Amino acid sequence: MQGLKFFNIKLVLITGFLVGFCSCLKIGETCSSSNNNCDAGLICGTCPANDNTRPRCTRIQPIIPTTKVKGLPFNKYSWLTTHNSFARTGSNSGTGSILLGQANQEDSVTDQLNNGVRGLMLDMYDFNNDIWLCHSFNGQCLNVTAFEPASNVLKEIQVFLEKNPSEIVTIFIEDYVTSPQGLSKVFNASGLNKYWFPVAEMPKAGEDWPTVDDMVQKNQRLVVFTSKSSKEASEGIAYEWKYVVESQYGNEGMIAGSCPNRAESSPMSTSSISLVLQNYFTTNPNVTQACVDNSAQLISMMKTCHEAAGKRWPNFIAVDFYRV
Ligand SMILES: *[C@@H]1O[C@H](CO)[C@@H](O)[C@H](O)[C@H]1NC(C)=O
Ligand SMILES: *[C@@H]1O[C@H](CO)[C@@H](O)[C@H](O)[C@H]1NC(C)=O
Ligand SMILES: *[C@@H]1O[C@H](CO)[C@@H](O)[C@H](O)[C@H]1NC(C)=O
Repeated sequence: MQGLKFFNIKLVLITGFLVGFCSCLKIGETCSSSNNNCDAGLICGTCPANDNTRPRCTRIQPIIPTTKVKGLPFNKYSWLTTHNSFARTGSNSGTGSILLGQANQEDSVTDQLNNGVRGLMLDMYDFNNDIWLCHSFNGQCLNVTAFEPASNVLKEIQVFLEKNPSEIVTIFIEDYVTSPQGLSKVFNASGLNKYWFPVAEMPKAGEDWPTVDDMVQKNQRLVVFTSKSSKEASEGIAYEWKYVVESQYGNEGMIAGSCPNRAESSPMSTSSISLVLQNYFTTNPNVTQACVDNSAQLISMMKTCHEAAGKRWPNFIAVDFYRV
């Protein structure tokens, strides 16, 4: 278990690690949902889908792995990742339209980052003469599925990186952008260029990544992957599946005991690819069910993926509703 540097939000593995200054309630203690009297990093929650109806203090912040073990290569850590990070419950479309798209998360990207999320999955489209975060409707972004311009969220990431000079953030772009240099323009305009981890320095044959210290020192603290292979040559944006093996998403990726790769990815066991991404969320996002999915069975799948990936722990663990 040496390699297990990630502790899930709901895991009651380490109690009282986030010792605050108040005499608030610790993880697992009965709390009052009307006034959140839990310690920092916890919320008062229930999980009726699991018959846990007693409100108890529940972890929403993972332990930032670099505070536990310093100086390892980037690929020796596990980072909490949000699936469709931008698709927040209760959002209205930036177009003014109502939104018909499904929500996958409950808070803003800024809150996610502050709570310890370090991987973001963002779906980007050409829309309204700009790049927008959107759900697909037959491969198209429509007013009713368009959340907001990507620049809004990229700016939130820029502010976080600026304020937190030793943190590293990874973005996975589900890339529908076809406008020439469309992504580069929006990243440049958001002031993220100076944090860019260069494709040329990404391991190509299964070597270790640079250490997190090295990445921090060089200020190469933004790792970006695109799902479009052509963007690597045209814009210097790494094609995800050259550098990452990724498990199946949706319900098919939640069958206990198997951790198959998604179609676009090489097999999980491919040792010439240094990073491992585990998806673990249902095909239709379900906030009621997520507190069950994000608990013991997620850990169990991590073990399955660890075996499937040649005894490598997933570096990115992507979930819906990470707070529950
Ligand atoms: C989409 O929203 C824009 C405003 O951003 C509006 O001008 C346009 O008419 C809307 N299109 C549709 C099809 O509703
Ligand atoms: C983005 O910024 C880089 C570095 O400043 C520059 O080389 C590149 O041409 C810019 N790309 C666009 C599309 O603005
Ligand atoms: C969401 O999950 C809950 C709890 O497991 C279940 O009862 C409900 O049917 C699910 N909803 C949908 C739309 O699948």
